[in-house]
Amino acid sequence: DKEPAVSITVVGASGDLAKKKIFPALFALYYEDCLPKHFTVYGYARSKMTDAELRNMVSKTLTCRIDKRENCSEKMEQFLKRCFYHSGQYDSQENFAELDKKLKEREGGRVSNRLFYLSIPPNIFIDSVRCASLSASSGNGWTRVIVEKPFGRDSESSAALTKALKQYLEEDQIFRIDHYLGKELVENLSVLRFSNLIFEPLWSRQYIRNVQLIFSEDFGTEGRGGYFDNYGIIRDIMQNHLLQILALFAMETPVSLAGEDIRNEKVKVLRSMRPLQLENVVVGQYKSHIKGGVTYPAYTDDKTVPKDSLTPTFAAAALFIDNARWDGVPFLMKAGKALQTKRAEIRVQFRHVPGNLYNRNFGTDLDQATNELVIRVQPDEAIYLKINNKVPGLGMRLDRSNLNLHYAARYSKEIPDAYERLLLDAIEGERRLFIRSDELDAAWALFTPLLKELEEKKIIPEYYPHGSRGPVGAHYLAARYNVRWGDFG
Ligand code: BG6
Repeated sequence: DKEPAVSITVVGASGDLAKKKIFPALFALYYEDCLPKHFTVYGYARSKMTDAELRNMVSKTLTCRIDKRENCSEKMEQFLKRCFYHSGQYDSQENFAELDKKLKEREGGRVSNRLFYLSIPPNIFIDSVRCASLSASSGNGWTRVIVEKPFGRDSESSAALTKALKQYLEEDQIFRIDHYLGKELVENLSVLRFSNLIFEPLWSRQYIRNVQLIFSEDFGTEGRGGYFDNYGIIRDIMQNHLLQILALFAMETPVSLAGEDIRNEKVKVLRSMRPLQLENVVVGQYKSHIKGGVTYPAYTDDKTVPKDSLTPTFAAAALFIDNARWDGVPFLMKAGKALQTKRAEIRVQFRHVPGNLYNRNFGTDLDQATNELVIRVQPDEAIYLKINNKVPGLGMRLDRSNLNLHYAARYSKEIPDAYERLLLDAIEGERRLFIRSDELDAAWALFTPLLKELEEKKIIPEYYPHGSRGPVGAHYLAARYNVRWGDFG
């Protein structure tokens, strides 16, 4: 057969991301018969390892959702046989040339397509891209490179990175991952909006009072303090994951579902936004807390974090889109580590019903009477709409209820991990869920002035106890716009 070979090289194969996400996702794709017929997986890293040792390492990571399924161990063996290892330096053209030789042998003269997943720190990105593209890129098929954030720390460093990447790669070879775009409920956002008549007509300042994008984790930076301290929660979560959701949420109807059409609309939203201002932002950092005899550490207790670090582990911000659809509607973002719960959700609070006959049923608390659409991205995926209805009985009392689409109850099939979808898309050349360089520039333009100001003015974060619901300042910020955080009930 004439089918091309596809080699997937995981650069940084012994790292955390490779073990936790990339190998399990590749195996899940294999299990589902989604990988191309002639695929090979190569692990590339500095440490010395044999193919057998890599397989052993990978096999330990395959404790993914698949492992309870039929024929799992058989499939796993077959998959592992297609995994190999090459040890090399990240900046050695020679080592990448050796890899190229091995790849060629395995490809056996077929058209060769090559995907490199750079799961390595950004300071060695460029060297690897240079070496891979000069020595191991495909001669007659495609070569694509997946890169993970951080894409710089601000507009300037991001532009420098893009410029360096473009010395060796065309834009359409670069696949910048934002794994939130691969999450099932984020993908569903456009379906919800554009395939249901009842939402799109309401999707504007006319009917929506505010939109909330909430991310919280119930654990701290745990072992990642060294990385995190250089970035902070605004760069780690807001500038990418939450902003991407916002862009998808707020964009105009794309011309088609093609990647370029969707990304064109997203970038327009980002470019219509006002850069963030310090007065619209609250930052926090978690401090230690004793609960049930257990001491939960402060952020600065992490050995890799300077004791006097002011890096925010929490932030809340109000953002605005200055276009006809969204003029004046606050988009409130909130992201934090070491909070009480783990969740990611989008909350859409609708306006009050004008002249509502039933207002008196809610006393003075009009907020209680407005509709709210909640899209729970994780955990326990769900979409529900809060509506008002009459409590059954002879009296006239109103109540709030949820029209609820609860994924676990509705669908028996498990939801794939975001990395599965993204890897598959990269193999298939589908760019819809990857970040284009103009989107990245626009995203940095929004956050860079604020990030600089926070650092230059050495703004002291508001401290909150580990495991709490975050700094109280987030409520004052929301209250300035007459908003209540929906996750506070
Ligand atoms: C990453 C951040 O991008 O996303 C981490 O760097 C964060 O700090 C993670 O924990 C959250 O991803 P998920 O898929 O577990 O919600």
